[in-house]
Amino acid sequence: MNNPERGLVLGGKTGLLGQALVSVLANENWTVFAPGREELDIFNSEEIASFVEKKKITHIFNTVAYTRVDQAEEEKELAFQLNRRLPTLLGNVARKKDIYLVHYSTDFVFDGKKNTPYTPQDKTNPLSVYGKSKLEGENSLLDKTWNKLLIIRTAWLFGPNKTNFVARILELAQNKETLNVVHDQVGSPTYTIDLANYTLELIKKAAHGLYHLSNSGQASWCELASEAVKCAGLHCRVNPITSSEYPQKAVRPPYSVLDCSEFIDLTGIKPRPWIQALRDYIFRKQG
Ligand SMILES: NC(=O)c1ccc[n+]([C@@H]2O[C@H](COP(=O)([O-])OP(=O)(O)OC[C@H]3O[C@@H](n4cnc5c(N)ncnc54)[C@H](OP(=O)(O)O)[C@@H]3O)[C@@H](O)[C@H]2O)c1
Repeated sequence: MNNPERGLVLGGKTGLLGQALVSVLANENWTVFAPGREELDIFNSEEIASFVEKKKITHIFNTVAYTRVDQAEEEKELAFQLNRRLPTLLGNVARKKDIYLVHYSTDFVFDGKKNTPYTPQDKTNPLSVYGKSKLEGENSLLDKTWNKLLIIRTAWLFGPNKTNFVARILELAQNKETLNVVHDQVGSPTYTIDLANYTLELIKKAAHGLYHLSNSGQASWCELASEAVKCAGLHCRVNPITSSEYPQKAVRPPYSVLDCSEFIDLTGIKPRPWIQALRDYIFRKQG
């Protein structure tokens, strides 16, 4: 049956999450548009507004972002342009046209000083340019009176069609006997396909405001890497190391597990454990 919903997925042509959203929306019989950067100038609000009008878009999904966390420390202006200016502009278009805007943000808005999962109400304190720019993007949109705005904070994505942490670990593990991976950063690994499906569940419930959304459970990068290597049947030893043994330009939160109870309460769905999702991803990859 044809679904009347019509989605514009920014980042849907090449992005990690964007491509998963396009396939999940299409499976649900949405009419989906995913123009690449050469087809639509995302910083031209008139061009976006006219696209929305011509194609009768009901929902804009913004997965475009500056996501190179370390490089953002040196490309601050570009990071803020993509992570703050773009959502602000999209927010203005969506409000004018009275359509939904679904925007994604990150666990890196937190400083990681807690040791229990972060709720959407917890205090933010980003440690990096990337985290700051994403938080300012959220703040430029958040408005309690706007009931067609959905902001989803997610974390540690892996999924098909684009390289990601798990894919890189599996490539390295094929040719190496050992890998050293950071064990003192703990977060919520999330499968893009699950995140896209759960996003649709929020939309079905007309959710608005700020939600946390990830697979269930938690892991360190080292645990995620070990599980991926084991699951792929590779014989590579994964050694835990500390962040100080693997210096990076951007400071990451040591703990950024997301509390998804508000999603569970609204939809009645408990996201499946990341280990299960990881198996699906790896078997699909190998299949
Ligand atoms: N990846 C993670 O682990 C993670 C974790 C937490 C939150 N998030 C959030 O989840 C969302 C999706 O992340 P992702 O990892 O899927 O992103 P991604 O794979 O890096 O995709 C970013 C998309 O943005 C497009 N883009 C970048 N700069 C552009 C520009 N100047 N003009 C037009 N398009 C541009 C890219 O197109 P090109 O291919 O043409 O460059 C690509 O399609 C983001 O909001 C991110 O902050 C991600």
